[in-house]
Amino acid sequence: MATSNLDFPFCHDVGKYERITKIGQGTFGEVFKARDRKTGRLVALKKVIMENEKEGFPITALREIKILQLLKHENVVDLIEICRTKPTQFNRSKGSIYLVFEFCAHDLAGLLSNANVKFTLGEIKKTMLQLLEGLFYIHRNKILHRDMKAANVLITKNGVLKLADFGLARAFSFTKSGQANRYTNRVVTLWYRPPELLLGDRDYGPPIDLWGAGCIMTEMWTRSPIMQGHTEQQQLTLISQLCGSIAPQVWPGVEKYDLFQKMDLPKGQKRKVKERLKAYVRDQYALDLIDKLLTLDPKHRIDSDEALNHDFFWTEPLPCDLMNMLSQHKTSMFEYLAPPRKPNHAQGSSAQAHARHGPHGAVAHQQQQPTDPSYDRIF
Ligand SMILES: Nc1ncnc2c1ncn2[C@@H]1O[C@H](COP(=O)(O)OP(=O)(O)OP(=O)(O)O)[C@@H](O)[C@H]1O
Ligand SMILES: [Mg+2]
Repeated sequence: MATSNLDFPFCHDVGKYERITKIGQGTFGEVFKARDRKTGRLVALKKVIMENEKEGFPITALREIKILQLLKHENVVDLIEICRTKPTQFNRSKGSIYLVFEFCAHDLAGLLSNANVKFTLGEIKKTMLQLLEGLFYIHRNKILHRDMKAANVLITKNGVLKLADFGLARAFSFTKSGQANRYTNRVVTLWYRPPELLLGDRDYGPPIDLWGAGCIMTEMWTRSPIMQGHTEQQQLTLISQLCGSIAPQVWPGVEKYDLFQKMDLPKGQKRKVKERLKAYVRDQYALDLIDKLLTLDPKHRIDSDEALNHDFFWTEPLPCDLMNMLSQHKTSMFEYLAPPRKPNHAQGSSAQAHARHGPHGAVAHQQQQPTDPSYDRIF
């Protein structure tokens, strides 16, 4: 049924919010900063793209809404309500649907791309603590995020971190009766994609989000994504060069993946996570936690509960509130709006800014783009 024929008596008109500015251009829609005309509360409006209108309301948006309605936690973005526009002659008689979120002043990708923003070790601990608390909560509620990356991690002006963008999220269950799950494998932005997905695993679980957490944690120091592959093959090569060869000795059962034979996996690589990152990450506890998050075998990768108990969070300097640091940065720090890193690339368009965070999987139907040359190389 076409949504234009429907009346939504319990759905407010989006006109109750006054649009301020565009803050994001995602694969799945535009995001606007807006203000509730009555209360003055700031919100983010995410428009649901109705690409294939004939098929009715997009199933991906329905899934995102259902999941967000279930998740209520300090470290998960809050979906306030769903709004609509009435069908009029100005929108070809097709109304739109908007997801209304609490507004967050920053996204982590934007903050990290701004050299003026400096995190102390205590502030990095607070950021990772909140990120892992969010993951612990969603995983306990049987939800996989499936698109962990710095651009999907929001931070309020008060320094509260919120996991956002549940556009690729799904519910999961541990298989009973020994039958394997058959989830789609084309998820997670390439640079943050764990080795089991790159090898075609379809029976994955929470460890896929912890790999992303490891990439994000490292980025708190390197300021750029650490493994910027152009293709799935190259991503596997980069992972092997950092985390050591993908082999049954370190990952029992890996040989059972079809792609283990088909992909060209570098042999004889030593694991160099700590060695290569120590120039950036001076703290031994931090290096140890990163090492455990970037574990090749998902069964041995640290989970959010263990990670939260890691000494990193329980040794001096202790996690320290982000509010003070953020109060010095009043200007917009969204990835979409952030200035390009190198002056010669000042003409960076929104499309470019978006590409910086790497190509999506096929789910997003985005072409695999080469890495933006303005992005700093880490190794
Ligand atoms: N609640 C919010 N407050 C402030 N900014 C937000 C909020 N939600 C989203 N944004 C901004 O909009 C961007 C895109 O939002 P989101 O990730 O939810 O959409 P998407 O279409 O799924 O994006 P993508 O394809 O880039 O993953 C975010 O990276 C962030 O910069
Ligand atoms: Mg996003």
